Amino acid sequence: MSKSYYLTSPIYYVNDKPHIGHAYTTLACDVLARFKRLDGYAVKFLTGTDEHGQKVEKSAADNNMPPQKFTDEVSQNFRDLTAQLNFSNDDFIRTTEPRHKTTCQHIWQQLIDAGHIYLDSYKGWYAVRDEAYYAESEIIDGKAPSGASVEWVEEPSYFFRLSAFGDKLLAHYEQNPNFIGPTSRRNEVVSFVKSGLHDLSVSRTSFSWGVPVPNDENHVMYVWLDALTNYLTAVGYGDDKNADYAQFWPADLHMVGKDILRFHAIYWPAFLMALNVPLPKRVYAHGWWTNEGQKISKSLGNVIDPVELAKIYGLDQMRYFLLREVPFGNDGDFSHSAMTQRMNGDLANDLGNLCQRVLSMVWKNCTETIPPKPDTFTKADEALLARAYALLDACRKEYDAQQFHTALKTIWEVIADANRYVDEMAPWALRKTDAERMADVLWVLCEVIRVVVILLQPVMPQSCAKLLEQLAVAEDARGFDNLTPAHALTAAKMPTKPEPIFPRYIQEEEEQND
Ligand code: MSP
Repeated sequence: MSKSYYLTSPIYYVNDKPHIGHAYTTLACDVLARFKRLDGYAVKFLTGTDEHGQKVEKSAADNNMPPQKFTDEVSQNFRDLTAQLNFSNDDFIRTTEPRHKTTCQHIWQQLIDAGHIYLDSYKGWYAVRDEAYYAESEIIDGKAPSGASVEWVEEPSYFFRLSAFGDKLLAHYEQNPNFIGPTSRRNEVVSFVKSGLHDLSVSRTSFSWGVPVPNDENHVMYVWLDALTNYLTAVGYGDDKNADYAQFWPADLHMVGKDILRFHAIYWPAFLMALNVPLPKRVYAHGWWTNEGQKISKSLGNVIDPVELAKIYGLDQMRYFLLREVPFGNDGDFSHSAMTQRMNGDLANDLGNLCQRVLSMVWKNCTETIPPKPDTFTKADEALLARAYALLDACRKEYDAQQFHTALKTIWEVIADANRYVDEMAPWALRKTDAERMADVLWVLCEVIRVVVILLQPVMPQSCAKLLEQLAVAEDARGFDNLTPAHALTAAKMPTKPEPIFPRYIQEEEEQND
């Protein structure tokens, strides 16, 4: 296969149970990975857990467990989540794995050898929650700009000469306007770099839960240097026997939340420049979810468990909601009413009814067989089919810009067109007057459903598989290369009586009785 695509989610701190924010980032990667695979790319989709540092060490201590045992347990929760939410990651990396320690130490040595790291001492603020250093000028009312508590740190430390990379970074942003998305966030990064970069402390001596610095075992590496390196570990950087690096590096996309853009768009490219390693093609920062208008936090007790959500509304329904409701890149609010509106409106009414109406008419009136492709089409047939076939290019463009909500909106416009076409053509009336035309109309609709459902597979894999099964589309005919008239549906027996795939949300009994 000639085309490759490497995309990564952040690796998650194992200080806590996975919540909706973690699920969201990985979900966005999952739909993109699935989209690219269906579009003929060899995809590598990486996710995993970030297991070192003070924050994790502290959580382990709070749980009265040795850090390794603690991280083994919590990391497993994240691994389980990938199965529970039907994520299709190709690898799951843990920063405590030997393969990762080897890469970190290899990189450290390269940076030392090339003179990018020097020994000095750090004196300043550190926020354990963010695992980040803050300058005095950034501290507001004794807190980090993120609201995290800070502590004063004074210790020997190795420094990375970040200050030497400001101009190179600015030149890179300038020459690669798509390197950081969305644009508003890109501008924030540019102004931060323009304001001047200080050298970065990249080792700690006051605790030991980290990758040991080669030849100076009093130090462990700063957790962000360790964590960012995971993207190289997973493609076998520095390991001649591993062919992945040649195929997949540079990464096509690092997907991150807005809070960790600085690490990915400033520190990481600077480290890579220092290593003479090509930079990733793009870093995209999405927004944050609130719950019924409130910031999500453990202390407020309003953390959303994605597995619970999938149980209540359905997994594909949740996946659809998260990507459709909020323009990707913006902050968004989760609310029960918004979720049920999407579930009942877009899914049960628009898409669900279209499929169920059309497929049951075929089952009842066409001897349970998808009709043959018509010999001639009316203008209305041609117009609807053309709009469906045009969707692939439109979706490619939106997916490449991570505008998942726009891709879905565009697909729903065709679903609305198809519903209007059903009403206008009234195939139920044609049954008595012109059975041949009825069969043609139903074929056009089945073909439009085929195209739409093939395109929706990345977002709702399970439901789309069921629909394609009902339409008798073979498993090996579900890739995007089939989205052309040359691959259109041909007469085929339907395997089973069509059943509705998208249920409406049923209110709990007590709510109904209110
Ligand atoms: N370990 C670092 C990432 C290292 S990547 C080399 C980290 N981990 S995290 O577990 O704290 O967060 C991971 C991701 O979850 C971030 O992208 C963050 O933006 C996302 N979210 C956490 N809470 C969120 C919401 N409430 N809403 C949306 N996403 C949020 O940072």
